[in-house]
Amino acid sequence: MSLRFFPPFVQQINTAIADEGDVNLYVLRLDVVHPWVNGNKWFKLKYNLLEAKQKNFTKLLTFGGAYSNHIYATAAAGNLLGFHTIGVIRGEEKLPLNPTLSFAVQQGMELVYVSREMYRERNTAALHEYLRQRFGEVFIIPEGGNNLNGVRGCTEIISEAMPTAGYAYAFDYICLACGTATTLAGIALSLHQVQKAIAFPVLKNGGFLREEIETLLTNYLASGLPTPYSSPGSWELMCDYHFGGYAKVNQELLRFSQEFNEAHGVTLDYVYTAKMFYGVMDLLQQGFFGKGKSLLLVHTGGLQGNVGMEKRFQKISRI
Ligand SMILES: Cc1ncc(COP(=O)(O)O)c(C=O)c1O
Repeated sequence: MSLRFFPPFVQQINTAIADEGDVNLYVLRLDVVHPWVNGNKWFKLKYNLLEAKQKNFTKLLTFGGAYSNHIYATAAAGNLLGFHTIGVIRGEEKLPLNPTLSFAVQQGMELVYVSREMYRERNTAALHEYLRQRFGEVFIIPEGGNNLNGVRGCTEIISEAMPTAGYAYAFDYICLACGTATTLAGIALSLHQVQKAIAFPVLKNGGFLREEIETLLTNYLASGLPTPYSSPGSWELMCDYHFGGYAKVNQELLRFSQEFNEAHGVTLDYVYTAKMFYGVMDLLQQGFFGKGKSLLLVHTGGLQGNVGMEKRFQKISRI
């Protein structure tokens, strides 16, 4: 695909917390790969877009909320690759459009608003049939790129960033934020047995994801799609760093993000990576990882969403 601008790279982070715990801390900068189609989005979309092209589809249809990183990236990737894109958006239209949706429209995406009830049917054959009748032959990508193609792309995250054989094994823990857990599933499938993925759900009560992850991993292994190993590496969910739930933030998280950015030159997104980085720092303080370990924190992008969030904070702080 002709979408890539820059290779992902690994950046070392020097902090007193890591030094005290004798831990090496690194960030995998997936946020830099493309201005619009970056982070885990690039990997989750890759095989979906390739399949759509191979099957000669000209239209992509996908689902998301009004601030969705996935809608933003699909609109841009679809436009760059010559697809007409349709975004099925949860809830009512609000004008003027927020920065995410106005970007999607600029990229040629047709937006369709559906009620929350209808949106809940987004993975059903009945709704897909209705959408096909309305829009014609569309290649449907599920919300967040959460399908086996999405997992497949994510099995390549670590090897693509570290193509030198053996280098990736230097990391004992791979830490990442978790929404649908597609990215976690792909990363877990690509880990060596001595490594472990630690995922931080950004939704409240994220423990429900465990069963979904097991199912996703089982389905992937049964599908015959490529994996470096025949069984997934170990993984664990840390469910206490959601800050009240999806897209919820507080002053502590905001302060943490700002200070992290000032100290290390890495901007975090408030919905996903800020919560994961905060969680990692907290666990480091508790000695969770043990001494002499190396951690790789995956920056999964999503910075476009900060624009809308920052507008929201400004409004809140004016009240
Ligand atoms: C920036 C960012 N980070 C992390 C995630 C979580 O990824 P997943 O849904 O694969 O768990 C998402 C959602 O796709 C995201 O947009």
